[in-house]
Amino acid sequence: MKFSLALASSLAVLSVTSALPTSLTTRAADSCPANALSCSSTAGGSCCSPTNGLLLLVAQWVEGYGPDNAFTLHGLWPDTCSGGQTGNSGCDSTRQYSDLESILQGNDSLYKDMTTYWPSYKGASNNGDFWSHEWGKHGTCVSTLAPKCYSSYTKYQDVYDYFGTALKLRQQYDLYSILNQANITPGGSYSADDFESAIQSAVGVKPKVTCSGGNLEEVWLYFHVKNGNQYVPTDSVDSSTCSGSINYPNK
Ligand SMILES: *[C@@H]1O[C@H](CO)[C@@H](O)[C@H](O)[C@H]1NC(C)=O
Repeated sequence: MKFSLALASSLAVLSVTSALPTSLTTRAADSCPANALSCSSTAGGSCCSPTNGLLLLVAQWVEGYGPDNAFTLHGLWPDTCSGGQTGNSGCDSTRQYSDLESILQGNDSLYKDMTTYWPSYKGASNNGDFWSHEWGKHGTCVSTLAPKCYSSYTKYQDVYDYFGTALKLRQQYDLYSILNQANITPGGSYSADDFESAIQSAVGVKPKVTCSGGNLEEVWLYFHVKNGNQYVPTDSVDSSTCSGSINYPNK
């Protein structure tokens, strides 16, 4: 029974892999080496494969923030293939924007999802600064989203697609539901091994789970990218920081 549940949830995860934002599918991907993964020797140029080819989706569990039944996002971080960070100042000084809040307000449905699933843990008045930081440091380093990669780029489409992609991945790899299916629910304490294996058996790869003072803090999922915008899970290159048991608090 345990196996079939895990299998069912991996199939659920697989069945939505084509659901990324449509604007991304109209880009240069047609001329990319088919199915070549970032960080492999066959990876294509910077619009096909992110130059920093290991993408980390960092989800957080913060009491008081976001829906009770959902992890929220910290970020989507492109790292070097061995897990090295890209640095604080981002990768494109011409696309450093200071007011992400008003830029994102230009896209109603995206902005609504941002306030729900990507809130700053310092409160709503800090959302704009938080999103500006994530965009400037990390978003500008996703080379597949550079304006030159679009056949007809419209202003801020790179920003919308960066945050939209991360939100889509959050929904696709819905950690709350994955854990819930393994009977791991808020308000309890679980062995770090059980917690990690529940995620690993649903997603098919090893996550990185982090704790702070015994409380669950973040879950990191790692991806390689193919065909410009398809995210393929891969094992974490880093160790989890939780030991013994993990307290998974109610929000
Ligand atoms: C709004 O953001 C979504 C998510 O990235 C994107 O798919 C859509 O194209 C954006 N809408 C506009 C009008 O740019």
